[in-house]
Amino acid sequence: MVFVRRVPLLMTKRLSIDGAKIQEIAAEFPTPFYLYDEAGIRNTVRELLAAFSWCEGFREYFAVKATPNPHLLDILKEEGCGADCSSLNELVLSEAVGVTGDWIMFTSNNTPANDYAKAMQLGALINLDDITQIQYMLENVGLPEVLSFRYNPGPLREGNAIIGNPEEAKYGFTREQLFEGYAMLKANGVERFGLHTMVASNELNADFFVETARMLFEITVEIFQKLDINIDFVNLGGGIGIPYKPGEQAVDLKHVGQAIHQLYKEIIEPAGLHPMKVLMENGRMITGPHGFLVTKAIHHKDIYRNYIGVDACMANLMRPGMYGAYHHISVVGKEDEPADQVYDVVGSLCENNDKFAINRNLPRIDEGDILVIHDAGAHGHSMGFQYNGKLRSAELLLREDGTVQEIRRAETAEDYFSTLDYPGLVARPTLS
Ligand SMILES: Cc1ncc(COP(=O)(O)O)c(C=O)c1O
Repeated sequence: MVFVRRVPLLMTKRLSIDGAKIQEIAAEFPTPFYLYDEAGIRNTVRELLAAFSWCEGFREYFAVKATPNPHLLDILKEEGCGADCSSLNELVLSEAVGVTGDWIMFTSNNTPANDYAKAMQLGALINLDDITQIQYMLENVGLPEVLSFRYNPGPLREGNAIIGNPEEAKYGFTREQLFEGYAMLKANGVERFGLHTMVASNELNADFFVETARMLFEITVEIFQKLDINIDFVNLGGGIGIPYKPGEQAVDLKHVGQAIHQLYKEIIEPAGLHPMKVLMENGRMITGPHGFLVTKAIHHKDIYRNYIGVDACMANLMRPGMYGAYHHISVVGKEDEPADQVYDVVGSLCENNDKFAINRNLPRIDEGDILVIHDAGAHGHSMGFQYNGKLRSAELLLREDGTVQEIRRAETAEDYFSTLDYPGLVARPTLS
């Protein structure tokens, strides 16, 4: 007899913050705004750390680029995370919240000397993107005691639309360059070594990360055998996906942790390389599901399609326009009404890809309704821009005790014009 395992598919996504609470917040703070849920963020980090509790040196370096707000970094620091930085300003943010030294992983590319200098000053773990950077560091800032390399497996692995196929992606060392590079480091007095990769982004297949670990563990053994170099840490990168769409399943972290533990016992321990640290640098899975873009319906327009105009636009969340990414939308107070209307939900940019949803089934939307765009807590606000003179919104944090803290104010017209020195340019003209 054949048993078919039925996986229950939840075909809708419920808001994890009570709709009435969101209404209350929207009555106090002007829309659009980002809203983050402290409790959700803390729980998710704890789940990830628990999955790797078998590894003494496991560390999650939160990818600052996902949500570069020091108030959120404070929370992550309290939970035991380090910071994965990719630029000078991200390093400055980490330093401001007291995350320094080997609690910073500096994974950058096409990197200016200044950025390396700051990373060196903070004692960060530096992860080089290219073999030429060894010489570049030597000439500009010298080499630190510890260095890591980012591996690009090229045709050996498949990536996806967000990060690109490894073969076409600009990142990392080839396999041959890894061996050449570690030998160069050794010859130049570097004492400790790391190995890193970041092959996919928003990946929901748990086994993908297990295969990534296998790939890095095997190379680690080969490096030891060929170069007599003991890799101190292996960084599996970020890229754990989140269920943006109804029906998608979150990655089973427990399974990932257990399966990687098994590989560690099979590959690393017999080679005599234990203890070796396993690291990750996720952003999306930590804050993504716990951040929402809250916006108000301000217009509707019926032509060849039916449009709902909201007061946020692609400048506040560019993922749908940039990648065609799906973000679920809830209409507050109408979550249980039939989704019997079909709308494009649009912003006000002069760009036709300024759409949060296309041909989406939603309940009937009226002007003044509050719409919540889900899963915007990573690579959301941080990807914001000012095209068409648009301003970035405020960021609010719903604390565990139910209070709301404005953790970043909205940009103002004064901010927008502040880099221009032009006589007679008035940020707030009087409207007659
Ligand atoms: C080098 C590196 N590490 C980590 C991340 C975080 O990825 P995610 O937020 O998908 O986990 C990124 C994302 O762009 C990245 O480029």
